Order: sequence, then structure tokens, then C-alpha cells
Amino acid sequence: MSQNARKILVTSALPYANGPIHIGHLVEYIQTDIWSRFQKMRGHECWYVCADDAHGTPIMLHARKLGIEPEELIERIWKEHNQDFSDFAVAFDNYYSTHSPENQEMANLIYENNRDAGHIERKTISQAFDPEANMFLPDRFIKGTCPKCGTDDQYGDNCEACGATYSPTDLKNPVSAVSGATPTEKDSEHLFFQLSDFEQMLKQWHKAGHVQEEMANKMDEWFEAGLSDWDISRDAPYFGFEIPDAPGKYFYVWLDAPIGYIASFRNLCAKNDALDFDEFWKAGTKTTELYHFIGKDIINFHALFWPAMLHGAGFRMPNAVFAHGFLTVDGAKMSKSRGTFIKARTYLHHLNPEYLRYYFAAKLGSGVDDIDLNLEDFQQRVNSDLVGKVVNIASRNAGFIKKRFAGKLSDKIAEPQLFQSFIDAGDSIAEHYEKREYSRAVREIMALADKANQYIDDKKPWVIAKEDGKDRELHDICSMGINLFRVLIGYLRPILPTTAQASEQFLQVEPLSWDALATPLTGHEIAKFKPLMTRIEREKIDAMVEAEKHSAEKSEPSKPAAKQKPEQANETDSNYISFDDFTKVDLRIAKIVEASHVEGADKLLQLTLDIGEENTRNVFAGIKSAYAPEDLSGKLTVMVANLAPRKMKFGVSEGMVLAAGPGGKELYILEPTDGAKPGMKVK
Ligand code: 2FM
Ligand code: ZN
Repeated sequence: MSQNARKILVTSALPYANGPIHIGHLVEYIQTDIWSRFQKMRGHECWYVCADDAHGTPIMLHARKLGIEPEELIERIWKEHNQDFSDFAVAFDNYYSTHSPENQEMANLIYENNRDAGHIERKTISQAFDPEANMFLPDRFIKGTCPKCGTDDQYGDNCEACGATYSPTDLKNPVSAVSGATPTEKDSEHLFFQLSDFEQMLKQWHKAGHVQEEMANKMDEWFEAGLSDWDISRDAPYFGFEIPDAPGKYFYVWLDAPIGYIASFRNLCAKNDALDFDEFWKAGTKTTELYHFIGKDIINFHALFWPAMLHGAGFRMPNAVFAHGFLTVDGAKMSKSRGTFIKARTYLHHLNPEYLRYYFAAKLGSGVDDIDLNLEDFQQRVNSDLVGKVVNIASRNAGFIKKRFAGKLSDKIAEPQLFQSFIDAGDSIAEHYEKREYSRAVREIMALADKANQYIDDKKPWVIAKEDGKDRELHDICSMGINLFRVLIGYLRPILPTTAQASEQFLQVEPLSWDALATPLTGHEIAKFKPLMTRIEREKIDAMVEAEKHSAEKSEPSKPAAKQKPEQANETDSNYISFDDFTKVDLRIAKIVEASHVEGADKLLQLTLDIGEENTRNVFAGIKSAYAPEDLSGKLTVMVANLAPRKMKFGVSEGMVLAAGPGGKELYILEPTDGAKPGMKVK
């Protein structure tokens, strides 16, 4: 490390240990990882820590539903998350869990310090209670009819149909989503963090530029509305840490989640003797820097509660909180039914993670604007920039070097000025990285790639190669090309670590540092060129989207092993269909609006089925032996709605109705109970 090396600690928000990582999450992990890799490449000491956010009611109930302990659920999810991140080359220095002894210790300490400083108050409040499940209900676990627009089955905090926000007591016909019971109100003592004690401190902190401007404006609105006390306790049953001086009460998940940053770092310190925990976390520390990357939806936790808690407990405060926007796909919110809610694992089954890293980088700036993954543009941009421009430079020159010059680069740089112009661009590229203006960095790097290709186009090594006595010239041109490639891949290294690594093997060099780029490779032997990246084919993108469309909305990657059996069936095991196959079957409630005999058919009835939204289907069903048409009209049944239409002698059948029984008179169509409506998905 050089004299002016900085000591930096960076974090990304902790994902809930409750479900898989998806590409929306990845915006942030990729953004942070690029920044952390960039700092390391510049010779700074940079530590990137994160953890699973393991506590809270949803995780407790999820585990209960699966019939396992929460500890087992979070461990399984931790493994999945860890693998997903690692496969996307997100290189944490430590990936931990908030359900850890270090976190419990730190949460207790931060709580006790704040309490002893007079920032915690106890108050009795009344809350929704589920008398059957014997638990208090978070807003999200109360459902009912929207008080504004009357839509059924809405959550206790907002209506998905009309967007209204309200409190659960406003809901009509509220029911507990846990047991179905009608919630009652019950009193309980809670612990509150007095956020208003920190108002002046926070105002100054925001003014001092620790949050982005857009965020500071948002914060002003909150200050104007007044800072209210923050409820940091939850009653049992709750999966979390019991509060030391409040038996039966637990820290609210959002209290111990950010403390997970500290705990993960503490755990890292235990594994690395050279790290001094206090140097990073003690109040007033000046030799280290702390940055949190987060989504714009959780800015209040990170720019209000978190600095206040740290300050109140005698810890250092963050140098900055960097918020980013949300991800849209093809201009719209990610959607399960459209197949654009793409899980990290699904993506990895179809595409190279570096494509996505590049595309996100090409779109990311330092602000909180949403970014769009346009699938068409994604394919074109990766193919034209990475494959067409960058990798191409290496492949255009490597062959000649290998075949004609035994793999050895020439002893000199043919165009020192051109090479120097590449190095000179490094300062501004570095500045863009530093400021999280990755899209600008990418633009500059691609302008250099154009320049490098222009050089090759002008020099035409493929022509010179055929001319006698031009060996030296050919050698110089191709060596120049390889050197320009080396600088480019060096600049792209924070974004494309895997391709950079493969390039380093090809160049037979140590991992590239920023400073090393200025020294060109001369008289140096390189390895045989292997393709560094292939083009994206549209079919792969489509297959990925299709796979997500078919993946069950509620498919549980984390079911206990016993319940996973059908998922693990292999294709040769004819007793099973795979879980994927099962999820492809679209079962719908259908209303038989018309039934009639089919002329010339012994077994068939012709049914017109209503499957909602003015969708009707014509289906021929072999149930004539058991039903007369007039018995069926108006009945509800279940149909396979996505069976490929079949041409039959009597017409096209567009699906199949489900019936059970040995046959003949004993054949019964499935009849859903009251409440089922045409078009409902059968789960
Ligand atoms: O919003 C979320 O997904 C939270 N799990 C983020 C926690 S970030 C930090 F505070 F721990
Ligand atoms: Zn509504």
C-alpha cells in the first residue's frame, strides 16, 4: 500500500433471508462491487462487507409454513445468496448474517449506550392482535377491503388497486393473514428511540453533504413534518434478539439490520489480525472512511435512524450514504407474469454474468434515477461494445503474435503518443468511477476502444502479413494492438473481473493495478488466445424470460429436502414430473356457460368455458356418459388453460376440464366451492 492509501469500508444493504436474489437486487451489489474493486485496484485498502438480514416476522412465518426452524431457513438462504453473489463475481470480503453472536453483542451495546444516554423511552401502545395465532400483527399481515375503493384482499398499509395508504384499523372486514381470525386490539409496552433528540445533529450532518442532493431534499420534508419516536421493540413470538432489559420483547428487525454492517466487519476482524476494529468504528476516527450503498426506498433508515443510533451510542458516522434507483425491465416494473422478475440463478442458467455487470455499469450514474434493462438494447450493447470492440482488439492481433513471432511482443511501442493518450484518459476515467458515474467511465473507455480499432483498421495487419519484408512492421502493429487492449481491459477490470482475469492469463501478467497500466508490455511473451467472451444470442434471453414465466409464482427454492423430491426427479424417472413441468400447467377456474351434444360423438360434450376477463374457450370433454348438457350449464370447474389447442374431428379443443372417477356414470368434474371465480389461478 502506498503512503496515501485510504482505508475504506463499504457496505451494500443486507438482503432479507427470505427469498432469492433477483436482478433488481443485483443493481446495488454490482454497483458496490465495482466501486470496491476500483478502490482496491487503485491501491487503497477497501473492505466490502455485507450479510443476510435474518430477523423479523416474515422470516419467522415463512419458516413456520415450511415446518422448519427459522435458523434452518436462514442458513439455507444464506448459502443460496452467497453462491449467487459469488457467481456474479460480487466479491465481499465478508458475507455474514445478522443472526450472529457479534450482531447480538453489538445490538445490545448500541441499545444500552443509547438507553444510558437517555434516548430510549417506554410507552404502552395498542396494536392489532391475532387472538388465534396469539401474536401481534404487523400491518402487512392484516388483510381486508380497501376503505377507499372497496377492493378485497388488500394489505393493512396500502391498497394495490388504488394506491391509497391507510392504517390497518381503517380496513373494512380485516382478517389476520396468519390465521384468518378477525384481529382485536391489545395493549403492550414498547421501547422507543427518541429520534427527535438528534434533530439538530442530523440537520447539520445532511447539510455537510453526506447524502445526495435529491435525498437531502426529501429529508427536509421529513424534518418539516417533525421527527417522531421510533418503535424499536416487538413482542414475542418474534425471530430476533431479545432485548436485554425487556424479557419477552425483541429488537425490531430494522434496529439490528444495519448493526449487521458492524457485526460483519467485526467478524472479519476476528479472521484478520491486521484489522483494527476501533479504527473503523470509534467516534471521531479520522483515518478510515465508511460508505453505505442502498436503494432509495430505505433512505430514512440509513440517513436518519442509523446515524442517530450510531451517534447516540458513541460510534462513528458514515462518510456518505449512496442511494440508487430501482430497476425496470423493458420500461416496466419487473413482473412475474411477464417473466421479467428474473432471479439471479435463472439468469446464470442462461447468460454470462459479466454481460449484466457491463450493462448496469453502462447505465449507472451517481443519482437516484431508476435504470432500465432494455433486453434488446442489452443484447446489442454487449455484443457491439464488449465483443465487437474490446475483445475483438485482442483477437485481431493475438493470432499473428502467436504464429509469426512465437507469442512474443515486440521490444518497442510503435506509437508512443497513442499509447500515452490511453494512459492520460485514466485520470478522468478514475474520477468517474470514484464518483460512481460509471456510465461516463464506460463511455470514455468505449471511445478509446473505437480509437484502438481505428488504429488497427488503418494499419491493416492482415494485409501487411501477406507482404514480404514487413515482419517487423507487422510485429509492431500487433504488439501495439495488444498493448491498447491491455489498457482497455485494465480500465474495465472493476466491471468485468472475470474477463479481466482471463485476459491477464492470456497476457501472462499479474492482476492489473491502475498504476501498472502506464508501463506497456514489451518483449513479453503472451499465451495462446482463447475467446474471452461470446455474443449474446436473443434465444438465450428469450429462454430466460420464458423460464421465469413458467416458474411458479410461489415456488420455494428453500423447501425442506423431503418436500423437494419431485423437484429433484430426473428425466429418466418416469414416476415424477419435474417441479418445473408442474409449474407449467396453468390451472384455472372456469365457468361452463354452455354445454351441448356433439353430433356424431359418443363420449364428447362441447363446452364453452368462461375463464374470466371475457375470455372464453371451446373445449371438447369426454364426460357425456356422466353428464347431460343441461346439468352442466352454470357450473364452475377447473381447466388446464394452457394446453396447446388440439384439432379434433369436431373442431378445435382449447384446453381440458378436470374430472375424477373410474369412468362411465362415475365421472365427476371438479367443482370448486363458493368464492371461486372464473379465471382464478388454481394453486
Ligand atoms: O430492505 C431490505 O431489503 C432490508 N433487508 C435492508 C437492510 S439494510 C441494512 F440496514 F441492514
Ligand atoms: Zn383501494
